[in-house]
Amino acid sequence: MEFLELSRAFNLAMVALVLFLFLSLRILFSCWISPTRVYQKLRRNGFGGPIPSFPLGNISEMTKKKGGSPLVNSNSPHDIHPLAFPYFARWQKSYGKVFIYWLGVEPFLYIADPEFLKKMSAEVLAKGWGKPTVFKNDRDPMFGNGLVMVEGENWARHRHVMANLMVESTTTMLDKWTSLINSGKPEIDVETEITTTAGEIIAKTSFGISYLSGHKVVQKLRALQMTLFKSNRYVGVPFNKFFCPKQTLDAKILGKEIDRLFLSIITERQKSIKKQPPQDLLGLLLQASHLDGRLGKSLTPKELVDECKTFFFGGHETTALAITWTLLLLATHSEWQNQLRDEIREVVKDTEQLDANMLAGLKKMGWVLNEVLRLYPSAPNVQRQARGDIRVNDVTIPNGTNMWIDVVGMHHDPALWGEDVNEFKPERFKDDLYGGCKHKMGYVPFGFGGRMCVGRNLTFLEYRIVLTLILSRFSFTLSPSYTHSPAILLSLRPRHGLPLVFQPL
Ligand code: HEM
Repeated sequence: MEFLELSRAFNLAMVALVLFLFLSLRILFSCWISPTRVYQKLRRNGFGGPIPSFPLGNISEMTKKKGGSPLVNSNSPHDIHPLAFPYFARWQKSYGKVFIYWLGVEPFLYIADPEFLKKMSAEVLAKGWGKPTVFKNDRDPMFGNGLVMVEGENWARHRHVMANLMVESTTTMLDKWTSLINSGKPEIDVETEITTTAGEIIAKTSFGISYLSGHKVVQKLRALQMTLFKSNRYVGVPFNKFFCPKQTLDAKILGKEIDRLFLSIITERQKSIKKQPPQDLLGLLLQASHLDGRLGKSLTPKELVDECKTFFFGGHETTALAITWTLLLLATHSEWQNQLRDEIREVVKDTEQLDANMLAGLKKMGWVLNEVLRLYPSAPNVQRQARGDIRVNDVTIPNGTNMWIDVVGMHHDPALWGEDVNEFKPERFKDDLYGGCKHKMGYVPFGFGGRMCVGRNLTFLEYRIVLTLILSRFSFTLSPSYTHSPAILLSLRPRHGLPLVFQPL
């Protein structure tokens, strides 16, 4: 009897030991052996970079504090690369424009060389690209597996559905905006905070939801963004979730709340979809997900929620920031404010009757947008992950390598743009879509290749409408309390807001 009990205890201990050894080996393999192998492979291929330490990689150097500066006192205020990415600016000097750095135990290939980017991009089809798994996991509450994150055949399916719907819904949306503006009520209220306004616009026009529900989604998304990106959470470091349990839990809870909000919006709409023809993106999306034959396999409810989150966030934040940075640049370049106002007077006879063709005539406004997205790209970097070995020249980027394409770095590179690289000169886009950049891959505010942004046309439209309305009603200057501190919180935003002094015209 005693022997039996002893033998059972021994067996249990053995199982526990084997389990412990197995887990330890797995951790050792994923945290140490596998990253070391990738590191050596990248080194053998000639990629240099700052020496990482275990387990933080290069995070300690990346999180050193940086300050802001009053814009007016600085000699080169738009030279933001050292402000936004001080560590990349430093490392570029030592290791060039392509090197490896480490987020925890995750190797990242840093790329700010357009020729390298072009060759690498030519090697991989859009659906062959991955998105860094480490970011996918970390940002799951925000994007789920929506179009920004999805990969492979699934990406092709989502992209097909979404791109078609974007085109169809944009026309309807424009008609809606026109009637909103014509209604005389301040429904597109340019005086309120721009991000909220852009969020409300996408809420109303793409999802057909009330300002109240839209506002709720915007607030929750913003809280989620702050939770995820305001402080360093050691992304890439093993078990980082346990270092910041509160943030991880908060993000999870917020993500679930947003999911529930969208699920209820979707369910509500599904009830009425049979009676009403689809008027907006959500309506078309739901209709498409019923029509298996037309667009391939339909989207599941979870996929629908993820796409809603992705489009809601992608559809307001980036455009809102482009408008915000534009206001900063116009506030400090009153000559351009006047030029745009003159152009509006010439092209738009009546701001109560805006339409897409008329707005396309605002050429100078287009140059201004391009120049703003060059100096202050709302999406300051583009990310990829290799899903197979990629050959560029005589080096191999091994399968699984994460890539970080430094858009800010390329947009501020004097070798690509010339000595006036940090000056606000919209006229550089007058006769050149690439603003005179010496390499076409050096100007990529909307990304590159087959995974380029699907929302570009919508942005051009929204930007022209909102800016036309603002410039027709106000002139504005920069408040003395403004501190220039462009910061990365997923997107590139003014860390301390943008206080402007408005004068009604
Ligand atoms: C100033 C405005 C915008 C900027 C600067 C911007 C920038 C970008 C960038 C850099 C990418 C990544 C492309 C790549 O990986 O190569 C992207 C992708 C994407 N954008 Fe935008 N975007 C803007 C507006 C919008 C709008 C208005 C929407 C939606 C309504 C949108 C939805 C998306 C989506 C869904 C993707 C993922 C596409 C894919 O991976 O297939 N974006 N955007």
